Amino acid sequence: MSEERKISMAVIRRLPRYYRYLGELIDNDISRISSRELSERMKVTASQIRQDLNNFGGFGQQGYGYNVEYLHAEIGKILGLDKTHKMIIVGAGNLGQALANYQSFEKRGFKLIGIFDVNPRLIGMTIRGIEVYDIDVMEKFVKEQEVDIAMLTMPKENVRETANNLAEWGIKGLWNFSPVDLYLPKHVQVENVHLSHGLMTLAYKIKDQSLTENEED
Ligand code: NAI
Repeated sequence: MSEERKISMAVIRRLPRYYRYLGELIDNDISRISSRELSERMKVTASQIRQDLNNFGGFGQQGYGYNVEYLHAEIGKILGLDKTHKMIIVGAGNLGQALANYQSFEKRGFKLIGIFDVNPRLIGMTIRGIEVYDIDVMEKFVKEQEVDIAMLTMPKENVRETANNLAEWGIKGLWNFSPVDLYLPKHVQVENVHLSHGLMTLAYKIKDQSLTENEED
């Protein structure tokens, strides 16, 4: 565990992409792959791949390449995907409902167990069998169910207060979609999502036609 701590966030941020590619290889019954082949598929240099994977012991063997299933499982463990995370959504509007309808999170062990809103018209409805509850019962729910992650898809006005409450009730991570920066105690991790940042980057790429390749970060 202490070793994992030393892996830089830059590497950690690349791991989900490796994980996804390796998952696709498994689906295609490919059991081993060289760093060169993986590099061609992922459009990342082979040395970058070796460097990244060497951070946690390599897993590659000279002349054999990587054992796809093993590497996939190990990266999963490093990311913490070998355990189930219980999630809730706060704000059952357009974005909250769209995310609630997305089933693929479950495949990675992220289990949506409740949705919360203030709007009486939404309370009581279900999305994929998951109920929308009144925000008033969120404290009890989060504590009793030991919820790990809250997806914040509510208007920005109340986000800080809600985030602070959730932190106090023991939440471990906030997936924050609202356009508000959150400052929380160290035991609560925050990951912000701004779709518009991707769009602005795309605008730059369109403007700067000298970028000829699809570069991934
Ligand atoms: P929406 O208005 O469709 O949904 C918001 C929902 O939150 C409503 O159902 C409302 O009743 C509920 N709500 C209001 N106050 C609440 C509270 N105190 N506690 C719990 N629920 C509450 O809005 P939409 O389009 O779904 O956007 C939601 C949030 O996501 C906004 O903050 C918006 O800025 C953000 N957003 C972020 C994007 C991103 O790329 N990160 C993209 C789109 C939206």
